[in-house]
Amino acid sequence: MSSHKLSFTKVAETADVPAGALLKVKIKEKEILIANVDGKYYAIDNTCSHKKGDLSKGTLDGKIITCPQHGSRFDVTDGKNAGGPKMMMFRSKTDDLNSYEVRVDGNDILVFQKSTWGM
Ligand code: FES
Repeated sequence: MSSHKLSFTKVAETADVPAGALLKVKIKEKEILIANVDGKYYAIDNTCSHKKGDLSKGTLDGKIITCPQHGSRFDVTDGKNAGGPKMMMFRSKTDDLNSYEVRVDGNDILVFQKSTWGM
């Protein structure tokens, strides 16, 4: 087995995340959001950078996930903040999320596991 393969962890099967769907998975206590955008899979942090909203309960529109708490928006393809929380009449900024490399191997969805996660 190559060391490269060792750095990817199976998190789900493709049937678990149909097009337009979201799935929250855990790798070593870290919550990751898997999103299927037009048949391509992406992985970003599941926890909103504003006040820890659960993004798996948000809405996915194209490649943009909207947090169910205060409406921050993130691009699931790279984790970048596409609009901060909407508080009162104003939209502020919040931090970008981490994004992770995803691979599909047969029916398996694999996410690259960084060594900083305690490997
Ligand atoms: S917790 Fe996500 S926008 Fe506030």
